[in-house]
Amino acid sequence: MKSRIEELEAAALTALAGAANLAALKDLSVEYLGRKGKVTALLRSLGSLPPEERREAGALVNAAKERLTAAFEEAEKRLAAAGDENPEDALDVTLSGRPHPVGGVHPLTRVLAEICDVFTRMGFGVAKGPEVELDWYNFEALNFPPDHPAREMQDTFFISEKVVLRTHTSPLQVRTMEKTAPPVRVIAPGKVYRCDSDNTHTPMFHQVEGLVVDRGIGFSDLKGCLTSFIHRFFGPEIPLRFRPSFFPFTEPSAEVDMGCVMCKGKGCRVCKDTGWLEILGSGMVHPAVFENVGYDTSVYTGFAFGMGVERIAMLKYGIDDLRKFFENDVRFLAQF
Ligand code: DAH
Repeated sequence: MKSRIEELEAAALTALAGAANLAALKDLSVEYLGRKGKVTALLRSLGSLPPEERREAGALVNAAKERLTAAFEEAEKRLAAAGDENPEDALDVTLSGRPHPVGGVHPLTRVLAEICDVFTRMGFGVAKGPEVELDWYNFEALNFPPDHPAREMQDTFFISEKVVLRTHTSPLQVRTMEKTAPPVRVIAPGKVYRCDSDNTHTPMFHQVEGLVVDRGIGFSDLKGCLTSFIHRFFGPEIPLRFRPSFFPFTEPSAEVDMGCVMCKGKGCRVCKDTGWLEILGSGMVHPAVFENVGYDTSVYTGFAFGMGVERIAMLKYGIDDLRKFFENDVRFLAQF
């Protein structure tokens, strides 16, 4: 009997030393000291011993039980103090994960990419140019003479007398033609700046410029190209109209309106009850612009167009406030 008691105590102490955390300790405590535990079973078995042995064995078992109880309490204190430092206690791999919000592509970047995609499929190249621009490219080479009233249409940020923040992407027409001989078929997406800020204007916004120059380019090419673009982008059922307009660098010039996507032409707040939305400016390249880049105006003709990306994004997604694009509210941005 004595050796059985000693074996059980040794086994319990070995197991105790290996307990890595409080949960394991609790299991061991139940296994040895619980109501149905091994020590309790040993105590019960004393009844089968002859009375003269029973007393001594009983004392031995009780002494062993006391030592084990003390050892368990000791181990419990040690593990509780280790607390979080014990990796198995600190990490509960069965808990569900905490998801991190995932970023998305900004709606303007997305629309810009979609516009470029439609035009590159039609065979256009993509040009980039500086946002800090010479007066020459932004105005003069585009047939805005120094005191021309059309300069007033664009609330310019001046860096110096001869340097501006570009007010449109049209300078890319001149920069592209300076570098390349015709034929030209290019779009130029980018940021532009105007000193203007209210519900429908921000000081920085985006445009996409387009330019096509070759022999025999006519107004019908302009109409065909822009009609395909708008039908690709907004759907083939959208009606269009070309309305006479004025830009110094095109002649003739036209603004393009499309049937209001919000009310389908019935008249609403967005189209100011006209049923039409203006979406881009365009025209046949003015001969004065060709002369500024050395293109032969007796051989080449071309058309150009320019559109506002924010406006197109608002119409595409039915967004009614321009400023939402620039507030960086994740609840807004996450919807795209
Ligand atoms: N640059 C003009 C603007 O910002 C838009 C524009 C109109 C561009 C006609 C063109 C064009 O290329 O042909 O208002």
